[in-house]
Amino acid sequence: MQTASTLLVLRKALESLRRDGGTVGLVPTMGALHEGHLTLVRRAREHCDHVVASIFVNPAQFGPNEDLDAYPRQLAEDSAMLEAEGVALLWAPGVEAMYPAGFATSISVKGVSEGLCGAARPGHFDGVATVVAKLFNQIQPDRAFFGEKDFQQLAVIRAMARDLDFARPHVDAILGVPTVREADGLALSSRNRYLSPDQRRAAATLPAAMREAIAAIEAGEPVPATLAATGERLMEAGFERPDYFTLADAASLTPLDALGDAPARLLVAARIGGTRLIDNMAVGAKTG
Ligand code: PAF
Repeated sequence: MQTASTLLVLRKALESLRRDGGTVGLVPTMGALHEGHLTLVRRAREHCDHVVASIFVNPAQFGPNEDLDAYPRQLAEDSAMLEAEGVALLWAPGVEAMYPAGFATSISVKGVSEGLCGAARPGHFDGVATVVAKLFNQIQPDRAFFGEKDFQQLAVIRAMARDLDFARPHVDAILGVPTVREADGLALSSRNRYLSPDQRRAAATLPAAMREAIAAIEAGEPVPATLAATGERLMEAGFERPDYFTLADAASLTPLDALGDAPARLLVAARIGGTRLIDNMAVGAKTG
């Protein structure tokens, strides 16, 4: 596996990778890799001849009170994991390579980025859209792979690629990969490492409560009352009041008060002991 940390080296490495005409899949990450990321790499390997992974802890997507400095950085360990998974090229730029002096552009995707995590983390999705647009332009992958765990992020990136006419990757080649979970259902996340053993045990209430809420909603129980009761259950388990706990249209992420015919998604963000966890699950369309 080759590693590039400057654009010059990246371009040369991509040129030699493309010489045989094979397809390139991109897996963008911020490092601190876990099984969820490795699943993205494996999916990329199934679909593409060469896999490029990126590791860049993107300052633009962290708010002033967020944990940019504390964000785990373990390049040597991550690099070994990616190499073992057959990644051909690792793009690991420093901040100055990604945002050189004078950098002045920001991409803002309206609508889909505004509610949910966008409301709780102002500017976050502008930072994500901007860095992902740069990664797409730098690497020009045939396909790009993102975890569905960050469901709103995936929707924002697709909207950005569609609105700005990205050709590599085309919006239809931005692929969402289902969330990887621990045995007790907790979604894998780099943030889980911040949980104490007690908090980690309590955190499993989140997916369990979501599944119960989904079963109730699919059985025809009223959505607002079901979500309110599930929110209470989370707080009894040790969570703070959720930032959001919302049933939304799966495409537009517009909140729904009732299940309709279109695919819906249950999305939640809640803190436990200061660690903010997010999760989402599909909800079946109304039947009959
Ligand atoms: O999901 C992430 O790890 C990041 O938000 C991404 C997509 C790599 C952009 O920095």
